[in-house]
Amino acid sequence: MANTRRKMVAGNWKMNGDTALLSLFKAQLKSPENVDVVICPPAVYLSESMGADFAVGSQNISQHESGAHTGDISVAMLNDLGVTYAIIGHSERRQDHGESNELIGEKVNLALNAGIKPIFCIGEPLEVREQGTVFAYVQAQIDAVLDACGEQFFDNSIIAYEPIWAIGTGKTASPEQAQEVHAFIREYLSEKNEAAQDLRILYGGSVNASNAAELFAQADIDGGLIGGASLKIDDFTVICQAAN
Ligand code: PGA
Repeated sequence: MANTRRKMVAGNWKMNGDTALLSLFKAQLKSPENVDVVICPPAVYLSESMGADFAVGSQNISQHESGAHTGDISVAMLNDLGVTYAIIGHSERRQDHGESNELIGEKVNLALNAGIKPIFCIGEPLEVREQGTVFAYVQAQIDAVLDACGEQFFDNSIIAYEPIWAIGTGKTASPEQAQEVHAFIREYLSEKNEAAQDLRILYGGSVNASNAAELFAQADIDGGLIGGASLKIDDFTVICQAAN
């Protein structure tokens, strides 16, 4: 089957950037014709990010709808601003904030119910890769989200496969290593719902201006979730072009 999935490149600024960097991106970053470009800045900059030639995503959402949850941000607030995407289940939130597969399932479901498109992150630590149990590991991450969301998962979700050993380390998965896991994810989901053929699966982990094109050329890699290289306008522009 020919791949008609539209490519996506999402920049995850993590806890980096400032108003000057945001102004630069708003002035200079253009979305190529065939690519959905998303910037996920720190929450304090979401409001100021709106109105540019890229879509905007949150780096996290609360699992609660409103109320006494100091420091949290609700999906209603994101909708209020016009934020269309939210990264959910990034490995740094799993590690720093103890987010479990079940909690992440709740959050993905809440985002979908609110019309926010989740960029749902999965990926294994180094010891799991060394043990050769990557497929079982990512399958468990996916199952928890499917349990929480049911069939609506297939309508508006994006998956980001990010092997933890490749994040911020300069050690990218080879295109073959990444493609192998992407193909597994698509096949596994396709057994549950044929719509998985249209679901976008992004690769993340040390994607840069030099390796993006080769990664994005793989049959089941539909773009990237970019950390470090999304803070440099020239590099990020090259990565967006590589997806076009
Ligand atoms: P990196 O981060 O590109 O800096 O490796 C990717 C991510 O964590 O989303």
